[in-house]
Amino acid sequence: MSSPVHQNSSFSTPQWWKEAVVYQIYPSSFQSHSGATTGWGSIQGIASRLDYLKSLGVDVVWSSPICKSPQADMGYDIADYKQIYHRYGTLQDVDNLIAELTKRGMKLMMDLVVNHTSNEHAWFLESRSSKDSPKRDWYIWKKPKSVSADGVPEPPSNWAQILGEANSAWTYDEKTGEYYLSLFTPEQPDLNWENPEVRAAVWDVMHFWLQRGAAGFRMDVINLISKVPGYPDAEVVLGAGCKFQPAFKYFVNGPKMHDYLQEMHREVLSKYDTITVGEMPGISDDDEVLRTVGAKAGELRMIFIFDLVDIDKPHVRMALKPWDVKEMKSIISRWQRVMIEKDGWNSVFIENHDNPRSVSRYVDDSDEWRHIGAKLIALMQTTLGGTLFIYQGEEIGLRNISKSWDIEEFKDIETINYWAKVNDLYADNPEELAYGRKIIDMKARDHSRTPMHWNAEENAGFCDAGAKPWMRIMDDYKTVNVDAQMKADLGDDLSVWQFWQRGLKDRKEHADVFVYGDFEELSVEHPNVFAYVRTSIKGEKWLVVLNYSGQELEWLMPDNLSVQFWACSNYVKGRAEKPLKKTIPLKPWEGILGRGVECVEYDDAKFAKADSFGYDKLSKPQSRPTTEISDVKFWLVTGDVKPPLKEIKYEAPSQSWGVGSPVYFLLIREGDLKRCKKDFQ
Ligand code: NOJ
Repeated sequence: MSSPVHQNSSFSTPQWWKEAVVYQIYPSSFQSHSGATTGWGSIQGIASRLDYLKSLGVDVVWSSPICKSPQADMGYDIADYKQIYHRYGTLQDVDNLIAELTKRGMKLMMDLVVNHTSNEHAWFLESRSSKDSPKRDWYIWKKPKSVSADGVPEPPSNWAQILGEANSAWTYDEKTGEYYLSLFTPEQPDLNWENPEVRAAVWDVMHFWLQRGAAGFRMDVINLISKVPGYPDAEVVLGAGCKFQPAFKYFVNGPKMHDYLQEMHREVLSKYDTITVGEMPGISDDDEVLRTVGAKAGELRMIFIFDLVDIDKPHVRMALKPWDVKEMKSIISRWQRVMIEKDGWNSVFIENHDNPRSVSRYVDDSDEWRHIGAKLIALMQTTLGGTLFIYQGEEIGLRNISKSWDIEEFKDIETINYWAKVNDLYADNPEELAYGRKIIDMKARDHSRTPMHWNAEENAGFCDAGAKPWMRIMDDYKTVNVDAQMKADLGDDLSVWQFWQRGLKDRKEHADVFVYGDFEELSVEHPNVFAYVRTSIKGEKWLVVLNYSGQELEWLMPDNLSVQFWACSNYVKGRAEKPLKKTIPLKPWEGILGRGVECVEYDDAKFAKADSFGYDKLSKPQSRPTTEISDVKFWLVTGDVKPPLKEIKYEAPSQSWGVGSPVYFLLIREGDLKRCKKDFQ
């Protein structure tokens, strides 16, 4: 029997932000509004799609940054936290968006980018204006480490820029002769969180948006806000020719991060009922994560843990490392268990604007398999515990950019920097150049940033026919689009969209199982099948079996389990016809969901003589039927229950039963129940 969700934990305590389905919008690529000529998405465009999102099953919309920005990093470089980027619209449009969301019972989550600002933010312009500026200390300024013989000032440390690892994370400022820290790009100077004025300014921005009606924040790289003092040189891990080195250990979850997050909680978050998710790359230690998302720590509601999307990442993102399904399973299972056992809360996500498409990455995006593969992922995502995040286009199984596209079609600063570095280093080496292109084809952030496919019309319904989209639209939009998938009548099959919609509905109807339930992985050693049981606190069980391979295979269900029926499969619309126990045949990339039954060995002789074991209380008033699953009934038996049935003792949490512990379940099959009743009454 799987261990029940912990009795004293608040893991299963219902909260709106735990059950919410969050949909991430990449605003430049989601929806332009009618009459706009920019070729960019807009806030009015988002507002025009709220009924669509509602019908999918979305509760919260998180938009990547919409504030005023020169767009060096697509809005993750903010020049004014209280103004809107002109192509996206105005503050009035945001107010209207919030009002329209509220009408539909939905909420808005803002992207809070406060590890750094744009180099065009007034704070930075003031800071760089002179060494005596009152805002000088709002950013991280350092003298050059040394000046070379030919007069070149050397950066204070060897840290590499995150979005261009060939370059230094320090940017030299001629005017004042000092370097400023800019971990991502020179256009994104890091704020100095040591300075209390900076923190107060951030709290002010947060109040501004919460008072305007935002329901919370996704916090950009929020675990980078505290840096190790002294900015020591990082270990050399990148090969020859690389002057700068990844230095995550010196700024990920730095020494004062928890102090700052606690202050943020005290000063801002504790005053509102928010949904918060911290983007926290590079951290994987359970206890450290729990310091932020543990129920008692309460710094943030949840974070994004990157183990799954970084499964193929060695030291830097634009590189590859081999991985297999077993590793993928163990990452997912680990975090499911950690949050249950240590009373934390987690987000569930597999795509975002910084990662390639999941159908291309974890399954098979060929024309033959994409449809099944995308639904396999949907089945997994909708049955895992935590707050579920969906990224735009995931619900129709969008895939990566075609390998045939010219490099000029890629717009992301990281891709551009990476390609420049590869060309600098290997201009005359076709093999290395081809490898560089392969990395782009597999890892570039551009894959998830192409405009949304709404319909088969010109520009995919993303922007007016006469406008030129800011980024090329994928070639398959005529067949793979929202309109076609919503309307699809595929006989005994569902489109990817229809499957997501149904999965989200099931998830909500069975939130006690899929959002709050216990999680137990089965067949841990299986190289391709990811199987797990989700169990609600009342004992309702669902079994998920996912074949992460393009091969047909058989999966052996453990002896103590069977299913009543297979409610869902990514191959058919209705119930799947499969054996209910033991050997289960699976098609390539097939996923199935079954209503589970736990079988407890019992022995007729014991029931025949049950009264002699003290089970005569069974038919008395203090006993009552609890959950019914098929032909097995669970009976709650109070009182002095003795062996030999102690092996099925179940410590039910007192709050759900209203009785003191321990309580016991006696499992009796329907036929036997009648017999027992007869015997005992
Ligand atoms: C994480 C964001 O998701 C990414 O898109 C951005 O480039 C960096 N943070 C810097 O803000």
